[in-house]
Amino acid sequence: MCGIVGCVLKDDEAAPVLLECVGKLEYRGYDSVGIATSASDIKIIKDQGKIDKYKENLDLKELPGKSGIAHVRWATHGSPTKENAHPHTDCKNRIAVVHNGIIENFKELKTELLNSGHKFTSQTDTEIIPHLIEEYMDEGQDLEGAIRSVTRRLIGSYALAVMSTDEPGKIIGVRKESPLIVGLGEDEYFLASDVPAVLNHTNQVIYLDNKEMAILDGNDVIIKNLDGDVISKEVHTIEWTPDMAEKTGYNHFMLKEIHEQPDAVKNTLMEEKEIRNVIEKFPKFSKICFVACGTSYHASLVGKYLFETLVGIPTDVILASEFEYTSGALDKDTLVIFISQSGETADTLKALKIANRKSHTLAIVNVVGSTATREAEHVIFTRAGPEIGVAATKTYVSQLTAIYLMAILMSGKEELLQTLEKMPDYMEEALKSEEQIKEIAGKYKDTTDFFFIGRGFSYPTAMEGALKLKEITYIHGEGYAAGELKHGPLALIDEEVPVVAVTPPGSSHDKTLSNVEEVKARFAHVIALGSHDDDVLKSDSDEFIGFPDEINEMFSPLPYVIPMQLLSYYISVERGLDPDKPKNLAKCVTVE
Ligand code: AGP
Repeated sequence: MCGIVGCVLKDDEAAPVLLECVGKLEYRGYDSVGIATSASDIKIIKDQGKIDKYKENLDLKELPGKSGIAHVRWATHGSPTKENAHPHTDCKNRIAVVHNGIIENFKELKTELLNSGHKFTSQTDTEIIPHLIEEYMDEGQDLEGAIRSVTRRLIGSYALAVMSTDEPGKIIGVRKESPLIVGLGEDEYFLASDVPAVLNHTNQVIYLDNKEMAILDGNDVIIKNLDGDVISKEVHTIEWTPDMAEKTGYNHFMLKEIHEQPDAVKNTLMEEKEIRNVIEKFPKFSKICFVACGTSYHASLVGKYLFETLVGIPTDVILASEFEYTSGALDKDTLVIFISQSGETADTLKALKIANRKSHTLAIVNVVGSTATREAEHVIFTRAGPEIGVAATKTYVSQLTAIYLMAILMSGKEELLQTLEKMPDYMEEALKSEEQIKEIAGKYKDTTDFFFIGRGFSYPTAMEGALKLKEITYIHGEGYAAGELKHGPLALIDEEVPVVAVTPPGSSHDKTLSNVEEVKARFAHVIALGSHDDDVLKSDSDEFIGFPDEINEMFSPLPYVIPMQLLSYYISVERGLDPDKPKNLAKCVTVE
């Protein structure tokens, strides 16, 4: 939610660099864009909408100066208008601020500032920050001191980048609960919400922790705590290359990331040794509890079926946003596993804090250095590489792979590793259905409702198929346990509602097949996913997407999700939408 960038360059103009860097964060929000630079005074150009539109009217010469800040917004307080776009300034236009997070006590602070005569131009919570800084600077504090004073007044979450004409060439960043990294280039320094923003400039980064401040000027970066003490921080070398955050010939990041899935799984498989090391440290657990949101929740559901089938440990799955209401019975015999691509999802982080007090915790995360990786007791990295498309694809299959590895290793049934290692090849096969799916997408692009059904291991696959459809095509999709249809939703089925049936070989197959018969009897169009050898399913379906017969239900979530992703992707494209940037959504949800 919102992406912020700051930079101080030695030789070059900041504006083109800020534009390029903030463009890499557009997955965090695309309601508006803004850049501020400072030469003799602060110049700001901002507008509502996406970066491509913003660029059309942008003359970078109007943004002179070697330092500046930039922002892409995912609106929380105030609609996505130009007025509400960041950067926001004080009354005298000598302080500019970009912000990611939410200031919960902004109303009280705004009333106080209005009563002291401050003038506001937006409905945002953020705008109180430059005005508060102004107050403290008017009392004689320097920029750094004023920011520190302001942080003592703020309740909520923030990553801020701040500049002032009183201290030209300096950018200050500070964070609490929202992510912020410092990029260390050669004679150039950066602040950013996430690593992809700086990859074209440096692979050396510092991850700021809560209540830490970074002071960037033309010569150096100093990191301090909020008492003003200088602190030393580890510099991390990032293994991601700039190419990994580019489309490299694909029309959309999502399509590129769908195609990267076999490699993403291979990369996670290489974590086997690390996962063994983590597992060796575990005491004996009597219960496992997965906690996650969205797609990561669906990976967790597969985890439940796997842990209960292979390891024999009772396993719960809880939505992170519900965790605080249902965590009463946690104890030290429980391992709570947090699944998160970003490691920054606010709901997940809140649940992690609660679980850390009561149980053992493990985070399975893609983004190295993210908050979850620093707060959980144990960490497993999925190593899928940067995922830019808002809809999770390759990070889902890498989460699944980490869970498979854990469950197989904890169960001692290591012969199953061989089956798991074959999955990247089966996924390559599944990608070959792309042309067929494109055709199916064309036929169903104007449909208004879909059902996705499956049982057992295929139930999470059905749920993930429905989520992908909703988020990038804006078509209503319902992921349902196939056996539950008859308990209500069957009333919705008719010839207008296609049903996607996930029907791999295995113990659930015959029953799902009966459910397919039931929806056929109500004239539904059936798009079935199953074994190439499944002649009955083939004859029962209007569209059939086949897989090798040896992929049984336990491992089916990995290859079977691919046609689902492609179906949503191509329907989105057919409907003239941008699958990478679905409306109202952002990749990293840092608000509750
Ligand atoms: C998936 O396509 C969504 N963009 C979303 O549901 C996502 O999985 C969810 O917000 C959780 O994010 P996380 O994995 O970064 O915690």
